[in-house]
Amino acid sequence: MVFMAKDASEKQAKFYAKARKELEKRLTNYRFIHSVSVADTAAAMAKVYGVDVEEARIAGLLHDWDKNHSDKELTERARKFGVTISAFEDDMVALLHAQTGACALAEEFSELSPKVIQAVARHTSAAADMTDLDMVVYIADMIEPLRTRGNLATLRELVGKISLEELFVKSYEITMKHLVTRHRFIHPDSLDVWNAYIQRERLNNEQAGSKQSISEQAGSEQEKDQRKNDNNDRARKG
Ligand SMILES: [Fe+2]
Ligand SMILES: [Fe+2]
Repeated sequence: MVFMAKDASEKQAKFYAKARKELEKRLTNYRFIHSVSVADTAAAMAKVYGVDVEEARIAGLLHDWDKNHSDKELTERARKFGVTISAFEDDMVALLHAQTGACALAEEFSELSPKVIQAVARHTSAAADMTDLDMVVYIADMIEPLRTRGNLATLRELVGKISLEELFVKSYEITMKHLVTRHRFIHPDSLDVWNAYIQRERLNNEQAGSKQSISEQAGSEQEKDQRKNDNNDRARKG
């Protein structure tokens, strides 16, 4: 068993090195360094949140596989891979790099699991049913240390202090605010994702609230019983 684990990690390390080399050929230096930083951040976050570290590392590394393509090339690649381009994507072609990248990676590397491919595909617009791996890659892309936007410090400090889903919602909130502030288009799918998570947050809060009121009720019933017993004791003594 020990040997198997060692073999597996050696295989993963070899694959990571191979993929890193290929990536370096495709991206600008800036984008490549960002990708390595996302891989490290995703691996560190995966450790904290109990997600597969190697899957997080490789998905983080490869998430921007198609990032250096022009809008024209991305549109062509989307057609080639059968990625649906909605009317909105005409104005947001750059978003397509997540999906075309995922399709290209699935073709290029049979070693990649569908979970990793999905995390790459979801790193721009996200989805209403993000897996833990999807969330780790999405957040790592945003908070990796080379990103310098000021409001990310709070997000970085929250890693490990709140749940992964809460951290994801906070990250998504920052993205949405950023788009609104800069008067950028918001993809309708992104609004659906936002609404789905707000709905879940409300349900969770309601459930937590009703659990609290049940325990408060139970507490006050206990206090009442205790008072009754105390009175009975006093009456007996008197
Ligand atoms: Fe990206
Ligand atoms: Fe990125």
